[in-house]
Amino acid sequence: MKSKIIITGGTGYIGSHTAVEFINEGLEVVIVDNLSNSDISVLDRIQSITDVAPTFENIDLTDRVKTTSFFERHKDASGVINFAAFKAVGESVQLPLQYYHNNLNILLNVMDCMDRFEIRNLIFSSSATVYGLPDSFPLTENSKTKKPTSPYGNTKKIGEEVIEDFSKVAKNFKAISLRYFNPIGAHSSGDLGETPTGVPNNLMPFITQTALGKREELKIFGKDYDTIDGTAIRDYIHVVDLAKAHVMAFQRLMKNEAKENFEIFNIGTGIGYSVLDVIASFEKTTKQKLNYSFVDRRSGDVPVLYASTAKAKKELGWNPKLTLDDMTKSSWEWEVKKNIL
Ligand code: NAD
Ligand code: WQD
Repeated sequence: MKSKIIITGGTGYIGSHTAVEFINEGLEVVIVDNLSNSDISVLDRIQSITDVAPTFENIDLTDRVKTTSFFERHKDASGVINFAAFKAVGESVQLPLQYYHNNLNILLNVMDCMDRFEIRNLIFSSSATVYGLPDSFPLTENSKTKKPTSPYGNTKKIGEEVIEDFSKVAKNFKAISLRYFNPIGAHSSGDLGETPTGVPNNLMPFITQTALGKREELKIFGKDYDTIDGTAIRDYIHVVDLAKAHVMAFQRLMKNEAKENFEIFNIGTGIGYSVLDVIASFEKTTKQKLNYSFVDRRSGDVPVLYASTAKAKKELGWNPKLTLDDMTKSSWEWEVKKNIL
């Protein structure tokens, strides 16, 4: 019988790519999402890529009663990948209670149900934001975490603490937290990718929307950082490589290879690219000329952020394969396909 996996937030950007990778590995995927930041058409797109229609339930995971009955129906699942959350950093500063309410209640309800129905394996979507303003690089999983600069980021830090505390006492429960750096890119089919609502906050969708003419120009936040070209540096990771990291983390749990009940892995490439590097790659791979200008630094931005990925490579056997050019090219193909077809 196929192993069943529950993917919360599975119609979202990273969740949908991860659903594809799990289906490709032969698992039975159950997606639960309330479509607050995603579209039902993603299910057809997953099916067109994999030839498999994942089971889907539209449930608000902050609703304890509905979440419990969902888990009752799927108590034969061998694990949960918990993507469901609100994720807009700036919005979380304006709406802190909504962010704490949504992101923490989802996690608590999911873990409560896992406990009740004896589902033992959890993968949690965390973020490099838990490192706050780092003291030194590259960031390893042992680098000091700090209070993140936004309520959104803090939900990730608190989420990890909740999981850690529970993993100390819960029988047979095992969890892995994956700290994503900057996920970008899209599926090679052009059928899955990121669809931000409103004006994008993140660099990559702002670039693709500008090149398509939806935005006038990209404003580069800061040209006076102490970096090679004065623009800020990030560790961009292709969403398909990131999705595969979830499969490998899950396999580690299933094979009982985890060394501790709660493990943490950085998921990036370990390479830092500047904003101008990303633009140069985009212009090269897409033959598009991008309009941009420089403005002041964005408040709360750190100058440099990149990961040490040695632990993920050694322990998970995970190696990101896709390059910055793959990321910018696939982001563009997704933008064009979704707007033109
Ligand atoms: P996304 O918004 O595309 O996906 C999240 C999904 O969760 C959406 O489909 C949304 O409808 C669903 N959701 C939200 N609240 C829900 C609720 N109460 N009940 C049921 N479903 C709910 O985001 P994403 O970029 O795919 O991110 C996935 C996860 O990874 C999130 O936890 C996010 O915080 C984390 N993360 C994302 C990034 C990034 O840059 N995209 C970086 C680090 C960590
Ligand atoms: C990347 C670089 C900007 C937009 C955020 C969250 C983080 C994580 C990933 C969830 C920075 C510059 C951007 C623009 C620009 N999410 N930029 N002009 O801020 O590194 O990380 O997403 O966990 O928590 O904070 O990503 O894509 O917004 O920015 O110059 O219009 O691009 O200053 O240097 P960030 P980003």
